[in-house]
Amino acid sequence: MTQFHLPAGSRYRDVPGRSHPAPAGAQRVREFRIYRWDPESGQKPRIDRFEIDLDACGPMVLDALLKIKNEIDPTLTFRRSCREGICGSCAMNIDGVNALACTCAIADIRGAVRIFPLPHLAVTKDLVPDLAHFYAQYAAVEPWLKTRTPPPPDRECLQSPADQERVDRPSACILCACCSTSCPSYWWNSDRYLGPAALMAAYRWVVDTRDEAQGERLDALEDPFRLYRCHTIMNCVAACPKDLNPARVIADLKRRVGDRQH
Ligand code: SF4
Ligand code: SF4
Ligand code: FES
Repeated sequence: MTQFHLPAGSRYRDVPGRSHPAPAGAQRVREFRIYRWDPESGQKPRIDRFEIDLDACGPMVLDALLKIKNEIDPTLTFRRSCREGICGSCAMNIDGVNALACTCAIADIRGAVRIFPLPHLAVTKDLVPDLAHFYAQYAAVEPWLKTRTPPPPDRECLQSPADQERVDRPSACILCACCSTSCPSYWWNSDRYLGPAALMAAYRWVVDTRDEAQGERLDALEDPFRLYRCHTIMNCVAACPKDLNPARVIADLKRRVGDRQH
């Protein structure tokens, strides 16, 4: 089984956390163990325990986090926005798996619900990881349409339905980072390996028949680290909450780069 870790300095060790017992009379109690750390506080990371009455809480892990923040501890810090699996903000490590808190049902988890930030990223606070490098890698693949041919003066730049279908799947990526932060190659080489999320974004433009920079895009990927650090370990496929297949996309990018060399 894959072992997920937080970077050195943000790991918790033997520091007692705070416990928040369930309210009196609660019938359906679940325990949540949540990673807490404010790097600016000078204190060490800890795990806090919260007992939540599920009869007074929505069904998803994000519902429990919101309940904790609203009713028990307003200092608990996490990202969220859409609450329906679209924005990608609430990605975190839940019960040992990278997932979206808003689409992860409490009922699907056995025992205490253990919640950590996405692994192998610096921690900004509690469940919020530092995604600056992740977004810089996304920007590095220049995720926008590039054309040289002037657009037709009297209509939009059209695509056939079949051509559009080729970009539909990679366009469904919500940049949640679940895949890249579950990828061992990315853990050890994220300074140079782009990782499955950024490669998914690159692929979305490589297969777009309106784009006229495919050659430049593949040139930019032809590098022992940027693309070829993927060793087909497949964690990314299991982690993707949108059922995308970054490993297959990466294999296709490698094939396209290889085909140009012959
Ligand atoms: S298939 Fe490639 S990108 Fe996906 S987890 Fe494995 S090494 Fe990482
Ligand atoms: S490919 Fe899937 S897991 Fe990776 S960033 Fe996109 S939506 Fe998230
Ligand atoms: S809150 Fe938007 S994906 Fe979870």
